Amino acid sequence: MKYVIGNWKANKNIIEVRAWLDEFLKYDFKKVQGTVEIIICPPFPFIPLLKEKTHKFPFIKIGSQDLSMYEGGAYTGEVSAKSLSGMIVYSIIGHSERRVNFQEKDETLFKKAELAKKYNIEPLFCIRGVDDKFPQEANFVVYEPVWAIGTGKYASPDHVLEIKNKLKLNPHQKYIYGGSVDGKNASSYLKKPEIDGVLPGGASLDPHEFYKIIFSI
Ligand code: PGA
Repeated sequence: MKYVIGNWKANKNIIEVRAWLDEFLKYDFKKVQGTVEIIICPPFPFIPLLKEKTHKFPFIKIGSQDLSMYEGGAYTGEVSAKSLSGMIVYSIIGHSERRVNFQEKDETLFKKAELAKKYNIEPLFCIRGVDDKFPQEANFVVYEPVWAIGTGKYASPDHVLEIKNKLKLNPHQKYIYGGSVDGKNASSYLKKPEIDGVLPGGASLDPHEFYKIIFSI
């Protein structure tokens, strides 16, 4: 099974989300059924709509881009794992944009991953390189070198594999690459048995480009 994870970041309004869904769900997914799991990670407000519109497609799952380090209570503005449970299957945790812009440290990220697990949400745990720690229980480790994010300078599959070897993952841990993945370069990662999937950001905003990535498997 390969995983294609779209990270929409802080993009789109409701009209654009509806248009994206209309275009994307027109495609015939029969050819890739059983070989790929598509995970869409929109901003929080669009999660219910995406869940509703994709429920007939069992190979499409919804994820969040983050969740709170608090389990619940008096934390105005936070979105807890408990609130998200049943709405999403996955959650991106530790994206470098959160580490840098919101000063999220290992302790916070490990707490988030623990809460995700507690509420049956699978963390997609992002690391920037071999120096970032990740929880042993995380079933998905996402390697996203900062220099490759949003720059068009994607990492070579050899480099991605080199990092994997250094990480010494457990056999249950899936290994995902993210950083300027698009319809042209996706197959170079997806065709490698050692790479379980890709996490495109910018390219997932366009339903046709996202489709190209999925169909490059
Ligand atoms: P990008 O973003 O594909 O636009 O480089 C990837 C990410 O930051 O998750």
